[in-house]
Amino acid sequence: MINLNEEKKILAKARAVVLAELDRSGTAILPPCDAEKTLTFLLALGIHARVTILDPWYNKGVGGVRSDYIPYIVGILEKTKDVSDHLFLWGFPEILAPFIERIPKPLELICWLTWYFKNNPSVIRGWRSAQMTCLHLANPKAPLNVQNFLNEAQLKMFKEGKLRYIPGPPSVLEESLLIGFIGRNEQTGHPAQKPLRVIEKLLLMGSKEGELIIDPMSGSGTTADAARRLGRFSIICDHSEEFTCLAEKRLGVSRLDISPEVMSLSFPIKCHLNKIEEFRAICGYTFNSKDSTDSHRNINRNSKGQVSLPFTLSDAGNGAYKVPSLKAKRRKGTMAKASV
Ligand SMILES: C[S@@+](CC[C@H](N)C(=O)[O-])C[C@H]1O[C@@H](n2cnc3c(N)ncnc32)[C@H](O)[C@@H]1O
Repeated sequence: MINLNEEKKILAKARAVVLAELDRSGTAILPPCDAEKTLTFLLALGIHARVTILDPWYNKGVGGVRSDYIPYIVGILEKTKDVSDHLFLWGFPEILAPFIERIPKPLELICWLTWYFKNNPSVIRGWRSAQMTCLHLANPKAPLNVQNFLNEAQLKMFKEGKLRYIPGPPSVLEESLLIGFIGRNEQTGHPAQKPLRVIEKLLLMGSKEGELIIDPMSGSGTTADAARRLGRFSIICDHSEEFTCLAEKRLGVSRLDISPEVMSLSFPIKCHLNKIEEFRAICGYTFNSKDSTDSHRNINRNSKGQVSLPFTLSDAGNGAYKVPSLKAKRRKGTMAKASV
């Protein structure tokens, strides 16, 4: 068994490996891993993203049915809220409806989005499915980037402070399914691949150029592809070996060499504040004393003054990894990847 100090050092090294890859190629593909574990791992590394895309199997059709679907997805939402400001959860409307009552605090429902497509072949008698739902959830105060949807003339007026209100995009995203001849050059063979143009809209609303996106159930890597096209960084992962290979091929990036044992490491949930400080120091955090007040961190002290706290890095406004501007020069292919 490794001790806490060793664990912290391994995690610091893993963090350096992830950040080096973001710096090198803009896209970090983690080795196959369960989504909840991936999010726990990223949390332990102190990595914080602007947007997380959650596109799990839908509990109907391809991917099968899980009797624990609601607690399983709520568990993933709980983890994601600490790793990212915006979350986009995909599913069929009737499957996602119960989650409206189960949004973990402090997340808020920003919008019920509908992806509308006309080209689904009829497989059953009756209504032909032509929509999917995407719940846009966010932490309070997470910025919405409506300006990313303005046309040139509107943008000019916006920059000059002459736009009296900023028109937002519609909450129905109309884009064809990638089937048959539609989107042939985009199709990868993944059975539930989303069109780039749908994912791009989510990234535009939730993030700015140069910010970080996470997708822990990334399938063919659409999120990373969209992020790259829009000048964002991304960290992606899928539990399937087959789909990880597909994403590597699509993105021209190979997965990071991080062992499953390291991916399973996570800093203990209950620990002393000073140990968190120490961990942050090892990982290169700059710690803002203004943010370290007990009330801000929701810290409970016992009678001896010891701290037991929920270990979240969601308040990592200052500690979280800020990705360098994409305009910064990339040393593409010049650095060998390290192993952890
Ligand atoms: C709907 S698909 C995602 C499609 C993806 N957005 C795309 O455009 O290619 C769902 C993906 O989630 C992955 N997945 C399902 N459960 C998972 C879990 N617990 N952890 C990690 N990946 C998971 C599946 O392997 C599958 O590739």
